[in-house]
Amino acid sequence: MIQLFRLSKKFGPNLVLNDIELRIREGEFVFVTGPSGAGKTTLLRLIFGAEKPASGYILINSINLNRISGPKLDLLRRKIGFIFQDFKLLPKKTVFENVAIALEVTGLRPKFIRKKTHQTLRLVGLAEKEMAYPLSLSGGEQQRVAIARAIVKDPLILLADEPTGNLDPELTREIMGLFRRIHQKGTTIVVATHSRELLGDTDYRTIILNRGQIYEDIDTPVRSP
Ligand SMILES: Nc1ncnc2c1ncn2[C@@H]1O[C@H](COP(=O)(O)OP(=O)(O)O)[C@@H](O)[C@H]1O
Ligand SMILES: [Mg+2]
Repeated sequence: MIQLFRLSKKFGPNLVLNDIELRIREGEFVFVTGPSGAGKTTLLRLIFGAEKPASGYILINSINLNRISGPKLDLLRRKIGFIFQDFKLLPKKTVFENVAIALEVTGLRPKFIRKKTHQTLRLVGLAEKEMAYPLSLSGGEQQRVAIARAIVKDPLILLADEPTGNLDPELTREIMGLFRRIHQKGTTIVVATHSRELLGDTDYRTIILNRGQIYEDIDTPVRSP
C-alpha cells in the first residue's frame, strides 16, 4: 500500500534520506524510530506528499506521488491523516471547530460533519471539551484534539510524528491505546518516535533509521505462548 523505491532526499548538500526501500502493507502498524536527525519527520512528510524526493519515488495505493500535484494530490491527502509534532491547532477556534475543519473542505453535509465530529471527540475522550479553546487544554488534551482532527475523515493511513513528545508515561500509554483502537478499525498507522516509553516492548514492526538509512527492520515478532 505504501511503497518506497530507492528514495533519497536532500536539503542543500545534506543527504537526509539515502536510498530507502520500504513496503508497508495495508492495515499494518509500524513504528519508525532512531536518533534525532535520523530523518523520521522527513520520511513522514515525503509519504504525505509535503516534500519531494531528490530521487526515487513513492507509491500510495499504486499512485506515484511524483506524478500528481494540485487537486489530485489534495484528493489523495484526504485519505491520509497527519498528526503534527506541534499539533498545529487553531487557537481562536474551539475544539469542535478544530476537528470539524478537516471535514469542511470535503463538501460533506453540515449535519453529517457535526455528527462525525461529536462521535470522534467522544472516541478520544473529549466530549466534555468541545466548546473549549486549545490554549485552555492540557498537553495531553491538545494532543487528543490533534488526533481527532487527523482521524475524523476516516483516513486509510494515519501518520503520527512524535505523538507523545511531551507527555508523561501514563498519557503516553493512553495515546498508544487510542492508536491501537484506530488500528483495529483497519487503518494503516505509521508512528515516528524516539520515545522508549512509546516503543516499550512493542509487538509492532519497528523500523530503525540511522543517518537516513534503514539500519534495522524488525517485523512483528511471534508472541511466545
Ligand atoms: N526543511 C529543512 N531544511 C533543511 N534541513 C532540514 C529540513 N528538515 C529537516 N532537515 C534536516 O534533515 C535531517 C533529518 O531531519 P528530521 O527528518 O527532522 O529528523 P528526525 O525527525 O529523525 O529528528 C536533519 O539533519 C535536519 O536538520
Ligand atoms: Mg522528527
